Amino acid sequence: QADAVFSQMPKIIGHRGASGHAPENTLAALRKAAEITTSFVEIDVTITRDSVAVIQHDSDVRRCTNGTGPILLKSLEDVRALDAGSWFAPEFEGERIPTLKEAVGLVQELGLGLNLEIKPTAGWQIPTTKQVAKELLDCWPDALPLLISSFAVECLIEVRRYLPDVPLGYLTSAIPPDWERRMAEYDCASLHCERHYVTKDHVDAIKSAGYRVLVYTVNDPEEAKKLLDWGVDAVITDFPDRIFSKLGQ
Ligand code: G3P
Ligand code: MG
Repeated sequence: QADAVFSQMPKIIGHRGASGHAPENTLAALRKAAEITTSFVEIDVTITRDSVAVIQHDSDVRRCTNGTGPILLKSLEDVRALDAGSWFAPEFEGERIPTLKEAVGLVQELGLGLNLEIKPTAGWQIPTTKQVAKELLDCWPDALPLLISSFAVECLIEVRRYLPDVPLGYLTSAIPPDWERRMAEYDCASLHCERHYVTKDHVDAIKSAGYRVLVYTVNDPEEAKKLLDWGVDAVITDFPDRIFSKLGQ
């Protein structure tokens, strides 16, 4: 299944949707990604107090909504009352934090591939992953490519129990010295690292070991070209359009 997913993965992935152009992790950001011809997007998923999987990066809603406080302590009803668009630009007023199910529905409608990053509130790795896996089993359309990643290894281990075939991404900032052991231990197909820490030697070694390499968050087209020339499989970017222009797509 990993090969099938990676064969459908383009070199450019929209970060939190197309978050340079629309409020991150909203349905508007997914629509914007599709509008600018991005075919694969990364979004973050966490859970509410009443255990509903919702699309949000931070554990506190302060930065990306008109509310405040931990998302884990809010019910879905509380979360849905928040405006998740105005902070970005007035024309996005009324945009809501989407549920995972809504996001998957739109991803399906738009025909996008998805890198779903499990982003638990610290301490809630297991319940968050259980709920996300349960909802994916209910709603994920098998025909579309799905790659699940997390910084939390508990999430990688737990999700594997429910979704035995889905490719997993080992998400890290810097590449740890024992990356190869970790990739094997957590049954990961790809390593996703932060752009500051990746070298050509890393890319060569990771590729030689048979894994994919994705790099985030790459917004400079020159840097994206350099990384892709090194053999990086995909760059995750807030501005897919800028990188398409550079690559002549
Ligand atoms: O999945 C890549 C990237 O999104 C990881 O960092 O903080 O943007 O979720 P962050
Ligand atoms: Mg993310």
